[in-house]
Amino acid sequence: MNKKTLSRKMEIKKAFTTIDLFAGVGGMRLGFEQAGFKTLFANDFNQKCKNTYDLNFNEPKLYVEDLWKVNLKKIPSFDVLVGGFPCQAFSIAGNQKGFNDVRGNLFFRLAEILEAKTPKAFLLENVKNLKSHDECRTFMVIERTLKNLGYNTKHQILNSMEHGDTPQNRERIFIAGFLDKDRADAFDFPEKIPLTKSFRELVAEKADSKYYYNDKPLYERIKKDIQSEHTVYQWRRKYVRANKKGVVPTLTANMGRGGHNVPLIKNSIGVRKLTPRECFLLQGFPKNFRLPKDISDSELYHQAGNSVTVPVIKRIAENIDSVLRGKKINPQLTISALAYAPRF
Ligand SMILES: C[S@@+](CC[C@H](N)C(=O)[O-])C[C@H]1O[C@@H](n2cnc3c(N)ncnc32)[C@H](O)[C@@H]1O
Repeated sequence: MNKKTLSRKMEIKKAFTTIDLFAGVGGMRLGFEQAGFKTLFANDFNQKCKNTYDLNFNEPKLYVEDLWKVNLKKIPSFDVLVGGFPCQAFSIAGNQKGFNDVRGNLFFRLAEILEAKTPKAFLLENVKNLKSHDECRTFMVIERTLKNLGYNTKHQILNSMEHGDTPQNRERIFIAGFLDKDRADAFDFPEKIPLTKSFRELVAEKADSKYYYNDKPLYERIKKDIQSEHTVYQWRRKYVRANKKGVVPTLTANMGRGGHNVPLIKNSIGVRKLTPRECFLLQGFPKNFRLPKDISDSELYHQAGNSVTVPVIKRIAENIDSVLRGKKINPQLTISALAYAPRF
């Protein structure tokens, strides 16, 4: 093989680079790195996230700073911006103020970074109702802003139990954007795949006694409603809700704060809440993902609920990688193009 062909081959294999914004504990980074991307910069303003993040990733470590204050010169050139920007401002659970809420405005910081750095592509993640918020005006502004920056976007709601083979009913909206229109046209979000994993495979038979309700006052109120070992339950302030789909309900950022909403399970020992470790597994984090010992359970629940389902991210990242390499052809485009093609 001559030198030129060899260097082209190496070039083809070269990893695309990312920056990990609103990085949390690095769920997006993990999915992208599993798909072959290389991370060049990571930012979040939460110091506790850094404990978990830095325990699991080598360089670059998490740079803790308010994104508004990050000097853009600190961010190197990169190929793909990755960011699950804060969702409270757009969430049904939040106050629905959208762009009037400063947290909503962080989207415009992302826009500034896209404008300054012009990466080839980006992937943004948010709560499902971002699309319908404020009679769809919020989403229209987001789409228009991205378009004005020269990006061609596609968005889709993906569910962890349908798109990530992960037994959690978690719907999130993803927005992928590409500077190059052909790449955007060629890009598809991953198809649904069968759910092969049961939540029971990811929960341990035994857990520390502090997670059990057996001797706690709430037990008397919940025990008659929690009968099946194959169902996940949630205590909803006044009643127990059983998850009819046989999976774990959406793990949320406020789970574990005040003891509410951490999903409950029953096994041979009794009724207990999921442990933080199990919540991470139910977000598709690998077993060897390390959880720091010096932060509270409630913080770990918060980190798990705030994160993403890693296998979903990996599958999207693989599709982004393919189109950036010019590999993938959108099957639907091909079919419709063929429908109009002259027949001989
Ligand atoms: C929805 S979470 C994203 C979590 C992440 N995708 C993960 O896998 O863990 C949003 C994150 O944005 C961070 N954040 C919020 N406002 C910020 C700001 N002004 N500057 C930097 N980070 C911020 C929060 O600390 C939180 O970790």
